[in-house]
Amino acid sequence: MEYSQHFSLQHLTTFKTPGFASHFFSFKNEEELTSIVQRSDFERISNHYKDILVLGKGSNLLLLGDLNGVVLKNEIDGLKIIDESTDDIFIEVGAGMDWHHLVLHAIENGWAGIENLALIPGTVGAAPVQNIGAYGIELKDVFHSLRCWHFEENKWYQLGLDDCQFGYRDSIFKRGWKNKTVITSVQFKLSKNAILNTEYGAITSELEKMGVLNPTILEVAKVVMNIRNSKIPNPDVVPNAGSFFKNPTITDIQYEYLKIEYPEMPFYKLPDGYKIPAGWLLEKANGRGYSEGRVGCYEKQALILINTGGATGKDILTFSKKLQQSVREKFGVELEREVNVAGNYK
Ligand code: EPU
Repeated sequence: MEYSQHFSLQHLTTFKTPGFASHFFSFKNEEELTSIVQRSDFERISNHYKDILVLGKGSNLLLLGDLNGVVLKNEIDGLKIIDESTDDIFIEVGAGMDWHHLVLHAIENGWAGIENLALIPGTVGAAPVQNIGAYGIELKDVFHSLRCWHFEENKWYQLGLDDCQFGYRDSIFKRGWKNKTVITSVQFKLSKNAILNTEYGAITSELEKMGVLNPTILEVAKVVMNIRNSKIPNPDVVPNAGSFFKNPTITDIQYEYLKIEYPEMPFYKLPDGYKIPAGWLLEKANGRGYSEGRVGCYEKQALILINTGGATGKDILTFSKKLQQSVREKFGVELEREVNVAGNYK
């Protein structure tokens, strides 16, 4: 366990914006976490549990400035097999493990289910918080349960699929239980018979190009990695937090109306309405690679905001509000933020 006061968080988020935490702890197992939350001053320094930020890799977080409270950095690692049948394998994984390492481990062992989620930056514990998703698969599709500590209730919970209330980039941890818990481990149900999901357009066409008819788990993962590498910047090189906004859902009427003016507008049909790629709306509203000062939209994918050098959280937030305004004015569509925001600016 580590403990520091006035601790810089700048290099602990992938946006690399500046900010200090009044109290910073890291923990490697549940016992260490317990000793932190049972400190006699924990309730006071966390402002009665109101100012707690649980940090994994900080890959979906916009830090606005200093955080007057407690930061808990989850470094719980480890993976164990819980149960196994002819078809399935149940594994329990430490919430601090790097997500992509888990994907690679699963591929090496021939366990299918998360290969489409290769290269998503972040930790295993952050994956259920926003129900990570890519190329036709979401975390909820392979999720079994998770264990978490609830600060206010002072007790452990084991939550199943329904308890987590998963939605599109959404869960109970972004709503009612926001900043109230720390996830310590996640159980997954993976498949020993490779049932692969290659329906997503970009994967299908890439496999066709490669002349692969019956792909292996590894081949699907490679295709996903190629696609991601071609349009999503590596946060170690270009600071970013992936998609900054969610793809908005519009009504059938709004869609029919916009389609007249923009017949080329991409869409995903939903049972109720249409989902429109926010990246397309942003590119149309502002042009490709639009930037202002130290913040910009990534040239190959406008939905990814990048820190072009020395940006503060406030710079990025202000830029993002201008983007929302531009899409509102041009299309009458509201963009909702996908990344989490923490800290304060002056
Ligand atoms: N598009 C543009 N211009 C842009 C960006 C996109 O015209 O600047 C168009 C593309 O040509 C394509 C469509 O918009 O026709 C969709 O783009 P893309 O396939 O890149 O997917 P997305 O809907 O923008 C979502 C997720 C990504 C995920 C991909 C692949 C959200 C908010 N984002 O992006 O997730 O990797 O699908 O499944 O749902 C993330 O959550 O951080 C993330 C990167």
